[in-house]
Amino acid sequence: MDRIIIKGGRRLTGRIPISGAKNAALTLMPCALLTDEPLTLRNLPRLADVDSFGHLLNQLGVSTMIEGARQGEFGRVMTLRASTIVSTVAPYDIVRKMRASILVLGPLLARAGEATVSLPGGCAIGNRPIDLHLKALQALGAEIELAAGYVRAIAPAGGLTGGTIRFPAVSVGATENALMAAVLAKGTTVVENAAREPEITDLAMCLNAMGARISGLRTDTLTIEGVDRLHGATYSVMPDRIEAGSYACAAMITGGSLELVGARRETMPAILSGLEDAGAVIESGDNGIKVSADGGIKPLSLSTAPFPAFPTDMQAQFMAMLSLAEGTSLLTETIFENRYMHVPELNRMGADIEVRGRSAVVRGVGHLVGAPVMATDLRASMSLVLAGLAAEGETQVHRVYHLDRGYERLEEKLQAVGADIERASDG
Ligand code: UD1
Repeated sequence: MDRIIIKGGRRLTGRIPISGAKNAALTLMPCALLTDEPLTLRNLPRLADVDSFGHLLNQLGVSTMIEGARQGEFGRVMTLRASTIVSTVAPYDIVRKMRASILVLGPLLARAGEATVSLPGGCAIGNRPIDLHLKALQALGAEIELAAGYVRAIAPAGGLTGGTIRFPAVSVGATENALMAAVLAKGTTVVENAAREPEITDLAMCLNAMGARISGLRTDTLTIEGVDRLHGATYSVMPDRIEAGSYACAAMITGGSLELVGARRETMPAILSGLEDAGAVIESGDNGIKVSADGGIKPLSLSTAPFPAFPTDMQAQFMAMLSLAEGTSLLTETIFENRYMHVPELNRMGADIEVRGRSAVVRGVGHLVGAPVMATDLRASMSLVLAGLAAEGETQVHRVYHLDRGYERLEEKLQAVGADIERASDG
């Protein structure tokens, strides 16, 4: 298995191109199921999760064709075409590896009238049930059956009908499934307490480009007027705000200065204000965001919550940064119940972090020391890379496959701005 080896202590300066957003890609790809015409996605990141999602769609009958990007463009261009749906089943083997597979439920149901998806089960960062996804589909008339570890959704004979979906709690994935199911339903659907994450707006804009009629973008109430059919479209995946935020933390933790090319300020308000409160100087323009630090990190008090508040997907990276702050920080996780798996690993590197229920008390220390470490999820792994960039000596981050799920060309991007980082293979 691969490892990432980092020799810490180098100040990072330069430009890092920000890739297309993983979480946007994973909800834009299943839109291809909604039409028999081609959907071309530009700026798609090269990530293990994107490949896995492509394989899942192939099994359902979607052809996927990859072309290189145009000059000056990052990422890949993929054309997806679901001329006919050949299967409506997302099997256990794929769903267990990639929870986002649940996002085929809504579009399959809308296009084929039924969908069977393996229940995702628990995952490293908590229970993650899918009850909200199912309630949304039921509100559009679907019948839901649960059997043998699978959920089966069936549309009524005349197809799905519009309705009111009132989410009792904010869920990104359930809002996405609701949108993808409602676009082809008869009549009007109103989604209340919808998630407002920028990836939801990206999804709604792509669906509208395919002929859907969704209004209320960027708000918590989305109105969808159902249409008879959708057509093909070409759409460019938004830049990854979590990747950008992670590299912003790399600038901070090394006292460096990084230009995050392509990053969009409006998609990361709480991340940027957190960085500013910690002492970063942030400049933004049409081409991206520049984050500069002087080496000092001020402590923060932050709580994760749905957009526009501070994202849970940045909690681990901020914790790594704050482990070197001049004082004590308090981080509270309100989205996932078990998202502190990086804490013992950061402590092994010399951090002083104590978990108290849903909060973590981070007492800033003078320095971190390199160590062999491993993490159980994507963002936790990135927090260890960040700690390694600032630590004295060598850090080896194991289980690199987590990083490959969500960070495109990680070592290459960090090497280009001065990091001493490389990948080594044990086998
Ligand atoms: C998405 C993101 C993930 C991010 C998360 C929160 C993708 C592929 N993943 O995950 O990176 O961390 O949003 O911003 O986009 N919940 C229920 N019932 C449900 C669904 C969710 O109780 O049916 C709970 C979850 O357990 C969690 C909370 O709602 O506590 C938020 O989860 P949700 O927004 O659905 O996250 P995902 O869409 O899975």
